[in-house]
Amino acid sequence: MNSQTIQSSVKLFPISELMEGERQLVEIDGVEIALFNVDGNLYAIANKCPHQGVPMVYGSIGGTQLPSNPQEYVYGLHNRIISCPLHGWEFDLETGKTIFAPDKVSIRSYIVKEEDGYIALILRKEPQSVIRKNFHCKP
Ligand code: FES
Repeated sequence: MNSQTIQSSVKLFPISELMEGERQLVEIDGVEIALFNVDGNLYAIANKCPHQGVPMVYGSIGGTQLPSNPQEYVYGLHNRIISCPLHGWEFDLETGKTIFAPDKVSIRSYIVKEEDGYIALILRKEPQSVIRKNFHCKP
């Protein structure tokens, strides 16, 4: 995002409703966005897998096997990876990029932060509609 881009901070709900291990779902201008609190880190991604469109909010979160030499198995990115619940494509929660083709396949990721006690999304423009979905997953 360059400095010319107008940004809009949208407060969604109190931080107390997205505690560690919890997930929430919102719909902004018709696009579902899944929000996660993983070990105190906040992440937000589009709730639609780019492969066949299943909801990413149900994905499992963990790490993955990193590129390595033959017969070496290196685990990394612990709790930064979400796996699609249908076929297991893995995405970096922070960047939205896939592990297998980071420059070709990704899911939209959003900047999310705490602002005055609320979860806030930073968007490129002021949204027309913000809907809190009836979804709240606790650990
Ligand atoms: S629908 Fe997500 S990997 Fe296939």
